[in-house]
Amino acid sequence: MKIAVLPGDGIGPEIVAQAVKVLDVLRAEGAKIETETAPIGGAGYDAAGDPLPDATLKLAREADAVLLGAVGGPQYDALDRPLRPERGLLRIRKELNLFANLRPALLYPELASASSLKPDVVSGLDLMIVRELTGDVYFGQPRGIEVRSNPAGGSERVGFNTMLYAESEVRRVAHVAFGIAMKRGKKLCSVDKANVLECSELWKEVMIEVSKDYPEVELSHMYVDNAAMQLIRAPKQFDTMVTGNIFGDILSDAASMLSGSIGMLPSASLDENNKGMFEPIHGSAPDIAGKDMANPLATILSVAMMYRYTFADLSTADRIENAVKTVISQGLRTSDIWTDGTQKVSCSEMGDAVVKVL
Ligand code: IPM
Ligand code: MG
Repeated sequence: MKIAVLPGDGIGPEIVAQAVKVLDVLRAEGAKIETETAPIGGAGYDAAGDPLPDATLKLAREADAVLLGAVGGPQYDALDRPLRPERGLLRIRKELNLFANLRPALLYPELASASSLKPDVVSGLDLMIVRELTGDVYFGQPRGIEVRSNPAGGSERVGFNTMLYAESEVRRVAHVAFGIAMKRGKKLCSVDKANVLECSELWKEVMIEVSKDYPEVELSHMYVDNAAMQLIRAPKQFDTMVTGNIFGDILSDAASMLSGSIGMLPSASLDENNKGMFEPIHGSAPDIAGKDMANPLATILSVAMMYRYTFADLSTADRIENAVKTVISQGLRTSDIWTDGTQKVSCSEMGDAVVKVL
């Protein structure tokens, strides 16, 4: 199994290094894993003038799975849009056809007090958001900023994007979401804005159509504004959610906070054959980069998702997840999840602790 390791920017290299330690343990035990590292995002721009250098894309295409840290940083903000780190991330998702983005929000009981919500609202939370990742207003054409005449007889600049979904795009992510719901609580909530947007109207129709193939799954529909409210009000009503790219981007950040820290949550982005890219859902946190204080657990848990979804090795996935649970129950905390009475550790100490448990 070949894994392309793309650390990226900011805290990316530090957190990815901890996840690589976990892979090293598995390799030492005899797992046939090969890793190769390449730059992406700002690091790609620095190395090759491109946030997704050709060599990086080639490596990612040839690999069985991709492990990614994070991209972005203030030093790249002034670059032309196509050269910005985020473009590298969006392009690799599109180039590898990673249309199904799985973002779990799981609350570790010991971290209930780190959530900004009352413990009884979030305790036992176990939610999966399936976000469509290669369509929607993120990629729809036309898009741009141009000068247009205005009704007052003058002209001014307008910015525009196109929210667009083809039925086939909705259908394939629907199948992934129903499949996941089948393995979980058999409840799927499709989030849209069908009271306003045609794009959502079609989304909803296709969801209903696909639901006929999964009679055991209870499908419900919710408008995105209500879904945002319900996630904060009573998040445990949800089991599996499915939504488009932009709504999923926003809702998954909200959901992440329910679990105490965005530093705990992994993600998987899968293509039709379950080849995937695995990354923490948090960003590059430039403010703490290089200080060895970031939380590596989301990245380590991303390796667990790699084992679960791409390598279909559930026992190794469980084992990594259990090791993370153990270090949490041992009271070890990076500063983002630290509370009184627990032991503050650095990023690398947290990685070492997971390795020790493994
Ligand atoms: C995410 C991020 C990205 C997105 C950015 C960095 C382009 O917010 O993965 O959620 O909007 O998809
Ligand atoms: Mg986001």
